[in-house]
Amino acid sequence: MRNLTESNITEATLARFADTPDPRLRQVMSALIRHLHGFIRELEPTEEEWFEAIQFLTDIGQSCSDVRQEAILWSDTMGASILVEAINHRRPEGASESTVLGPFYRQGAPEFEHSGDISGDTEGDSVLLRGQVLNLWGEPLAGACLDVWQTAPNGLYEVQDETQPEFNLRGRFYTDERGNFELRTVAPVSYPIPTDGPVGKLLNATAVHPYRPAHIHFIVSAQGYQPLVTQLFTEGDEYLQSDAVFGVKDSLVVEYRPSTGNERYRVDHDFVLVPQTRGDQS
Ligand code: BEZ
Ligand code: FE
Repeated sequence: MRNLTESNITEATLARFADTPDPRLRQVMSALIRHLHGFIRELEPTEEEWFEAIQFLTDIGQSCSDVRQEAILWSDTMGASILVEAINHRRPEGASESTVLGPFYRQGAPEFEHSGDISGDTEGDSVLLRGQVLNLWGEPLAGACLDVWQTAPNGLYEVQDETQPEFNLRGRFYTDERGNFELRTVAPVSYPIPTDGPVGKLLNATAVHPYRPAHIHFIVSAQGYQPLVTQLFTEGDEYLQSDAVFGVKDSLVVEYRPSTGNERYRVDHDFVLVPQTRGDQS
């Protein structure tokens, strides 16, 4: 292939990768080349603009560390994460809805007893969150795990904030024999996703705000069921309509009701899991 021009470079590039042995990778390469070339043909970038695009990708990579995942942030703010999530979780009627994982999940959160408090010494409005984990037929799932994480009232996850102890506001809970769980925490707040990196710069340049509505994250899992990655959002939050990462679904918005007990608020919510299909079990 020589003397390639604007009119035949796309065909030539497609031909170069046409014999990729793995069929899925072949499909990926074909779509990538067609869309990338289409993007360039539509925009006709100057060389300076193209270098800026390369620099943006470089900055994304260089911003990543053990506690910072700028690539996920980019995917989230572009609506890409929620699109992939929607395609992969076409859930049956009655199942809990899932939403984005986000970049702040940490494995290995401490295990708590029923009704344990993940907030430690964190000051804030105390909350008792209770519910059941059920299957699609309303049967309670005993021994289901709820892996929970959230920010402190200063809007920071413990990995972003040296003043918080390790694993603060993170915990794993297990349902009892009737599928019940109960946990204590402090009320979450709305917070901006990190804006000190290339994604923040992009949001600033596009006049898009970086806020997420107040939420608590969950991964709910039980043997024989598909793990549910989800969040519970606070009713009345001003960012429910404009979540920076497009994660809000009506069924995941919960009311913080004043409590008659020792805590300030009470929240009730059940999670409904979908059985694993044969393919998932392998
Ligand atoms: C989060 O909720 O933790 C989150 C999700 C997407 C991007 C940034 C943060
Ligand atoms: Fe979050």
